Amino acid sequence: MSSAARDPRTPDSKGGTNRDPPSDDDVVTHAHGSFFGRRKGHRLRSHQADLIEHLLPRLTLDITGPSPSDLAGLFDRPVESIRLEIGFGGGEHLVAEARAFPNIGFIGCEPYVNGMAKILAQIEALDIGNIRLFAGDATELLAWAPPGSLARIDLIHPDPWPKRRHWKRRFVQDASIAAMARVLKPDGEFRFVSDIDGYAAWTLDLLQHSADFVWTAERADDWRRPWPGFTHTRYGAKAVREGRAATYLIFRRR
Ligand SMILES: C[S@@+](CC[C@H](N)C(=O)[O-])C[C@H]1O[C@@H](n2cnc3c(N)ncnc32)[C@H](O)[C@@H]1O
Repeated sequence: MSSAARDPRTPDSKGGTNRDPPSDDDVVTHAHGSFFGRRKGHRLRSHQADLIEHLLPRLTLDITGPSPSDLAGLFDRPVESIRLEIGFGGGEHLVAEARAFPNIGFIGCEPYVNGMAKILAQIEALDIGNIRLFAGDATELLAWAPPGSLARIDLIHPDPWPKRRHWKRRFVQDASIAAMARVLKPDGEFRFVSDIDGYAAWTLDLLQHSADFVWTAERADDWRRPWPGFTHTRYGAKAVREGRAATYLIFRRR
């Protein structure tokens, strides 16, 4: 596809994709949240179940009470700043970032229990100390987090919800943009990756209408190519196999 056709400033009317989101039968909706996907997949192996039972409680954020004034206290060692990845899936990107930046604290949010089991296995095998986890809806986590507490939020290959009547299920909405603006520090970043041109255009349009964010791209390669050090995920690899190029958008909190 030509770069002009892929220009995220040119929305396509269908928000089109050839990837299936969870079917309606699998969808769990929540009155107070924005999670519309599967929470469970294939049965966990016994070690994975053991990690969910014993390791996850040690790493999980408890958002039932008030948030601490400083999220750095969640980590055993001092951290310079804190980043969040929403919907980390199998955890490829989150694990790579946590290992590359040991002085940064990472929070990973993923309601899909099989994804959680996968990242727990990597945390255990690689002895990663700077990841904390939340096995639920990022909307609830964002509402709980203290204002100005995060340096960066990553949303990588979010569920595209291609049918027009499902667009309201997309994670990026005016309300989630406002929620991210609240918890990001000034100059903090929201980074978005999608191989679905319609969702990239949707995101760019909403963010450009937000007074809280500025799109940082200066040239086409800034959105056509991954930022330096970007680690591709399972969904990114699938997109490449199926011939879809991804769009990489970085927005700075004003
Ligand atoms: C298409 S998958 C992509 C996973 C991973 N980022 C990747 O690139 O391989 C989207 C993920 O977002 C998660 N997700 C969907 N809605 C979410 C929400 N409201 N909060 C947190 N995660 C969510 C899903 O469970 C799913 O694992």
